[in-house]
Amino acid sequence: MSVSRYHCQLRQGAAERRAETHPLTWRLREDGAVLGLDEYVEKDGYAAVREVLTHQSPDDVVATMKEANVRGRGGAGFSAGMKWSLTMKGPGIPRGYLVCNADEMEPGTFKDRLLLEQQPHLLIEGMILGAYANHSYYGYIFLRGEYVEAARAITRALEEAREAGWLGHDIAGSGFDFDIALHTGAGRYICGEETALINSLEGQRANPRAKPPFPGQSGAWGKPTVVNNVETLCNAPSVMRHGAKWYQALSGELSDDGGTKLYGISGKVERPGLWELPIGIPGRELLERAGGLRDGRALKTWLPGGGSTGFLLPEHLDKPLDFDTIGELGSRLGTGLLTVVNEDQSVLALVRNLEQFFARESCGWCTPCRDGLPWVVKLLQALERGEGRRGDLEMLDKLADDLGPGKTFCAHAPGAAMPLASALRYFRDEFERGVAPPARAAQADPMPVGGA
Ligand SMILES: Cc1cc2nc3c(=O)[nH]c(=O)nc-3n(C[C@H](O)[C@H](O)[C@H](O)COP(=O)(O)O)c2cc1C
Ligand code: SF4
Repeated sequence: MSVSRYHCQLRQGAAERRAETHPLTWRLREDGAVLGLDEYVEKDGYAAVREVLTHQSPDDVVATMKEANVRGRGGAGFSAGMKWSLTMKGPGIPRGYLVCNADEMEPGTFKDRLLLEQQPHLLIEGMILGAYANHSYYGYIFLRGEYVEAARAITRALEEAREAGWLGHDIAGSGFDFDIALHTGAGRYICGEETALINSLEGQRANPRAKPPFPGQSGAWGKPTVVNNVETLCNAPSVMRHGAKWYQALSGELSDDGGTKLYGISGKVERPGLWELPIGIPGRELLERAGGLRDGRALKTWLPGGGSTGFLLPEHLDKPLDFDTIGELGSRLGTGLLTVVNEDQSVLALVRNLEQFFARESCGWCTPCRDGLPWVVKLLQALERGEGRRGDLEMLDKLADDLGPGKTFCAHAPGAAMPLASALRYFRDEFERGVAPPARAAQADPMPVGGA
């Protein structure tokens, strides 16, 4: 196993992964090699496409996805079936696009990479089903530029699928036409925001678009466009093959959200990696699977789903890792990949690092984000040096509020505000310790000068 794959490793062996319980990963090879077309088809691959395109209507697909309650795995948890039901379609409306969001730049997140590198045909099959349900004429996989291995695997898989008749004209003799192109991004976090992604795809500056109109009404090149995350789309084949009730039952009593989730852990644990588990398992189970904390240290805090989610405490570990529960705790499930922080780590330093990332990745379109994030970074840096001034914490509180929901064009700024606001709430003493004694504080200047 190469070092670059270290985190992106599925920690469940073939014996544990079964078709009935692990719809996303049961086919994966033990050696981590990409699953070619023959092996994918041998393992029931493209069976859902054959069945659905010849025996079901697009509306049937939407209804089944809705009933299964597949919640979008890109972070917001919006119902995929609901999104597909809202796409403009029908007589007189031009067929549009289905876009797979494979930008995956969320700090601490590496789940889509596993699917993209090792099982591209599952994604292609999911995209065909999504395109059929949404009357899409063409598909794009918008891939993070650094995912070179994934680009190789997808390129090969698209060729294989085309040659075998799973893409192109008259798929499986159904009369439905659809093809997919791979588009590699240039490595900006904001390109993961769906409307910035569409602008980038069109060759324009990657800033978010005002909504409405929503992409489902008018997206890429003015046509109805559906944007879904890799993992969301990879759920569609098993939902359509085995039905909504089967999918719902995978999470059983654990959660109202259907299915399984690719969960993961990184940070100060013994064995970082990925697991496919029923959605709604408690964080503690995941931590135990990761071998607990490294070097016998104690858990200080954790992020439940990437850098743009809010910190939670050890006492939250027994709560279900699902969208609603984590939301009720004041955070977000986000991508469902935990970042574990131990008792020796400085939350202030961690937040400063995250805010530097968010400041650098701001597209600069709106003022609170463009100017507020560099200001946050300057204040945090001063506190880290022990040169903060009285009033800095209150200013950080205010900035976190100004970056919050509803005050900016897109969710980048509210995402950046989450770790900041939660750290100020739970670890305020760490920030307070960074305020200098009065004599020194008078010399410090926390006001922003220039950009990030
Ligand atoms: C700054 C920012 C970055 C994002 N990055 C990603 C990403 O890398 N992958 C992703 O699927 N969604 C990302 N999203 C969410 C997308 O805008 C969109 O909600 C998602 O692709 C929809 O897919 P889903 O409904 O299947 O979850 C991002 C959102 C924001 C605000
Ligand atoms: S919130 Fe930030 S990233 Fe989003 S549009 Fe405004 S400046 Fe751009």
